[in-house]
Amino acid sequence: MTNRRVLLRNRPIGEPKPSDFQIVDADVPKPADGEILVRTIWLSLDPYMRGRMNDVKSYAPSVELGQPMVGGTVGEVVESRDLAFTPGEVVLTYGGWQTYHLAKSAGARVGPFGPIKLDPKAAPISTALGILGMPGMTAYVGLYDLGQPKAGETVVVSAAAGAVGSVVGQLAKIRGCRAIGVAGSKDKCDYVVNELGFDACVSYRVPDLATVLRDACPNGIDVYFDNVGGDVLKAVLRLVNPFARIPLCGIISQYNATEPPPGPNLAPVLMNRVTIRGFIVSDHADRLPQFLGDCGRWLRDGRLKYREDIVEGLDRAPEAFIGLLRGRNFGKMLVKVGADPTRR
Ligand SMILES: NC(=O)c1ccc[n+]([C@@H]2O[C@H](COP(=O)([O-])OP(=O)(O)OC[C@H]3O[C@@H](n4cnc5c(N)ncnc54)[C@H](OP(=O)(O)O)[C@@H]3O)[C@@H](O)[C@H]2O)c1
Repeated sequence: MTNRRVLLRNRPIGEPKPSDFQIVDADVPKPADGEILVRTIWLSLDPYMRGRMNDVKSYAPSVELGQPMVGGTVGEVVESRDLAFTPGEVVLTYGGWQTYHLAKSAGARVGPFGPIKLDPKAAPISTALGILGMPGMTAYVGLYDLGQPKAGETVVVSAAAGAVGSVVGQLAKIRGCRAIGVAGSKDKCDYVVNELGFDACVSYRVPDLATVLRDACPNGIDVYFDNVGGDVLKAVLRLVNPFARIPLCGIISQYNATEPPPGPNLAPVLMNRVTIRGFIVSDHADRLPQFLGDCGRWLRDGRLKYREDIVEGLDRAPEAFIGLLRGRNFGKMLVKVGADPTRR
């Protein structure tokens, strides 16, 4: 038995390349007292990982060169030296890009993810990394707590077919809002309208996005859930209503940038007394029970839907991650690292 690991070999300049990663085989670690050994089943790939590859001060530490890439994981306990866990149980952990890892509950920091036991009967275990996990919760607190949408208002969300954006639009509909998506392809737009029930979706790959968005938002924009920054934010700012709210969730259009991009014209923010509020989901951990209660129920009732984009095998994590930053994923990007005993 070996532990396959994907290490950070180089800090990328611009877009990451496969050679920035190194795949190695190491010994499977042995759990000490209080630790569990976890076999990874699902690895989440998320845009924030691009920031962790840089050596710059941020809200979370960088990955050290030669260390495994970080990431949320769902796996099976294979050995336990913690009385609270039994082999065979499924746990949410922050195990990173590797096939085995140790996790520790009592009093130790293992990252923001636990280990937390999952009930495979309650929901597919992979949802703990998507709609019922960090991306879903980001959508929930970002939209409901910071966006404060009211029935009848227009909510626009970018990266609308992705893990966070797809939930934002559906939550906006549940609140009685008009939900408009912005995404990178016709397929993605068709999906968010036809499958997820958004009112409309526009591609940002058009010459005049502000005009196309204006047609989709005849009453202006009350909430813009920003996942991308850049040109989409620029177009939205021309259409904001007085007292609009902009939860600033992500700026993926800049994650591979080598030069600071030219700033948007913020005059409408001033004129319209717009609140732009940055946030990080981990500051809102107190909202977890409410989020899981609401979204778990809506998922079971069929009011929330989700889509997963799955690649098989840890060795494909680097190419899948590079693709995620290019918009190649369609839905929550996951790597199937090992057999999932809960799924046929
Ligand atoms: N603040 C927080 O706590 C928090 C937590 C989770 C996620 N986030 C942020 O939320 C955003 C979405 O994350 P996610 O996990 O849901 O990822 P995702 O939407 O599933 O995947 C990323 C998507 O971003 C889009 N994209 C890539 N480059 C773009 C560009 N230049 N312009 C416009 N869109 C671009 C692509 O879709 P298209 O085909 O539509 O371009 C791609 O599929 C990211 O910015 C992420 O960093 C923030």
